[in-house]
Amino acid sequence: MATGTAILEAFYQAAGQFVAANDLVKLTHASTEAIAGEIQELQQLGYSIESHPHFGYRLLDAPDRLTADDIKARTHTEVIGRKILVFEETASTNDIVEHMARSQAREGLVVFAESQTKGRGRHGRAWVSPRGKGLWFSVLLRPKFKPSAAPRITVAAGVAVAHAMRKTTGLDARIKWPNDVIVAGKKVAGILTELHAEGDEIIAAILGIGIDVNCRAEELPADIATSLQIETGKPQDRVALAAEVLAALDHFYRADFEAVVAEWARLSTTLGRQLIITMGARRIEGYAQALDGDGALLLRRDNGQLERILGGDVTVEK
Ligand code: BTN
Repeated sequence: MATGTAILEAFYQAAGQFVAANDLVKLTHASTEAIAGEIQELQQLGYSIESHPHFGYRLLDAPDRLTADDIKARTHTEVIGRKILVFEETASTNDIVEHMARSQAREGLVVFAESQTKGRGRHGRAWVSPRGKGLWFSVLLRPKFKPSAAPRITVAAGVAVAHAMRKTTGLDARIKWPNDVIVAGKKVAGILTELHAEGDEIIAAILGIGIDVNCRAEELPADIATSLQIETGKPQDRVALAAEVLAALDHFYRADFEAVVAEWARLSTTLGRQLIITMGARRIEGYAQALDGDGALLLRRDNGQLERILGGDVTVEK
């Protein structure tokens, strides 16, 4: 574990109390001088840390800034977040992960950006990613299942994001199939899964997630989008949410898919509803009956036939 991660983890465990310099030395196997240097670096990053000649150090406040050390200090995962990178600005985090996937990066890599200049959503739409206001990140997955089961990734990610949001904010976050997380009827997060497959094998799946955390209304597409700050009435801790989302992703990505579907059903705004789905020029209506084992939506048409739907824009009929 990196020294910065270990120090922050000790601070969070101490919950505002002093941590003796000696304890930090034992934890990190670094020298007292190296610890003092790390503390100074953290202070330069904006962490408010008090040092005391006898008691050691204590964390008074953490900045609203994403760092790999801080995210790692607040979560313990098996696969997701093995390696975390944070960029100040990038075109799209999905592109960075795609590039790294081609250079043999391991499953679980997560790339965050404080802002994106060319964030993209589904169907080639732009995704606004204002600096320091959200969580804009991508995860490299290398699942063993076939490309036809790729919708499972989006389903698991939706459940994970909704879970983490409910836990950190107490909001009633729900999932609108296939990829939106909704609060109070408006979109608060979106998921874009991009695949690189050869034949029957997924070489890499790039799971891109955008969460509107502290965006103001003027920064969001009018009427259809909202943010956690707007819905809770106060700024939210982005690092805490990032840590919760990675922990939830680690759990739901590796969980039995039946358990994921059960959780999805509990949080879904679409299941058991009459839907209108548009897929390009095609528009179909039907009753959302279930998800199948691949994560596709089974839609009962008016003529009684069951249709398997892989994607599209969904409107829930009143
Ligand atoms: C959608 O709802 O249309 C999907 C939005 C996905 C946005 C995220 S932000 C991080 C990652 N990088 C991108 O360019 N897009 C995804």
